[in-house]
Amino acid sequence: MTRKIALITGASRGLGRNAAEHLAARGIDIIGTYHSKADEAQQVAKALEAAGAKAVMLQLDVGDCSSFASFAERLGTTLQQRFGRERFDFLVNNAGIGLNVPFSETTEAQFDQLLNIQLKGPFFLTQRLLPLLVDGGRIVNVSSGLARFALPGYAAYAAMKGAMEVLTRYQAKELGARGIRANILAPGAIETDFGGGVVRDNQQVNDFIAGNTALGRVGLPDDIGAAIALLLDEGNGWITGQRLEVSGGMFL
Ligand SMILES: NC(=O)c1ccc[n+]([C@@H]2O[C@H](COP(=O)([O-])OP(=O)(O)OC[C@H]3O[C@@H](n4cnc5c(N)ncnc54)[C@H](OP(=O)(O)O)[C@@H]3O)[C@@H](O)[C@H]2O)c1
Repeated sequence: MTRKIALITGASRGLGRNAAEHLAARGIDIIGTYHSKADEAQQVAKALEAAGAKAVMLQLDVGDCSSFASFAERLGTTLQQRFGRERFDFLVNNAGIGLNVPFSETTEAQFDQLLNIQLKGPFFLTQRLLPLLVDGGRIVNVSSGLARFALPGYAAYAAMKGAMEVLTRYQAKELGARGIRANILAPGAIETDFGGGVVRDNQQVNDFIAGNTALGRVGLPDDIGAAIALLLDEGNGWITGQRLEVSGGMFL
């Protein structure tokens, strides 16, 4: 049987890397992207190969739509030369940055940067990659618990994630004719480098989140990687257009 291929943006660290590890363990090959951390990306590729998967890392700035045509070309060449395939099976739009600034102080430049990376980028990258995604393929977008509950300082970030949740439903509707499923996973607060590593490194923040989470702790990358792998599981093909919150029950 042909092995499936997942393209994961932001696979050099954090949740993207963890998702790649979970998928590789399930026999799925990985094309990951990184932005600035080429060395880390190569380490990830090595670890995935050691786990038995084929893995390639490509550079990509999801905030720069003008680079998507050449990225799609590189992806097409990579698929042919490294995997002997014309198309890939799963797209995980994970790459992103955080911003914690009060609504009243958010600048237009900060807003535009988030807009480009968190919404415009995934919108047009997915559009650009549609010809390379197989019929019956799957898209997993990444939102945040902050699109459901409100914590001060995340107005712009959460607004972009909320827009991604709406976009996901439209993708499911419009791409359903090709058998493509589109879902969005909303992590709670997870211990990664995200937002300067605040959830992991600031004990006060960590305690606050744990105290407001049904399962009594903050999330770990494995909590999310496992859930992404589940959404892409062969048997889970009847789920589309859905938001799945994976937060251990944060602010229920
Ligand atoms: N961690 C949380 O608490 C949490 C909660 C809810 C949602 N999320 C969402 O989960 C996703 C992943 O977060 P994370 O915690 O894994 O963050 P992370 O540890 O900071 O990793 C971010 C990843 O995104 C890549 N990236 C950053 N800017 C990019 C750009 N302009 N173009 C392309 N790639 C870029 C980074 O690449 P380089 O390493 O090469 O720079 C890295 O691989 C994000 O969409 C985030 O909004 C995270």
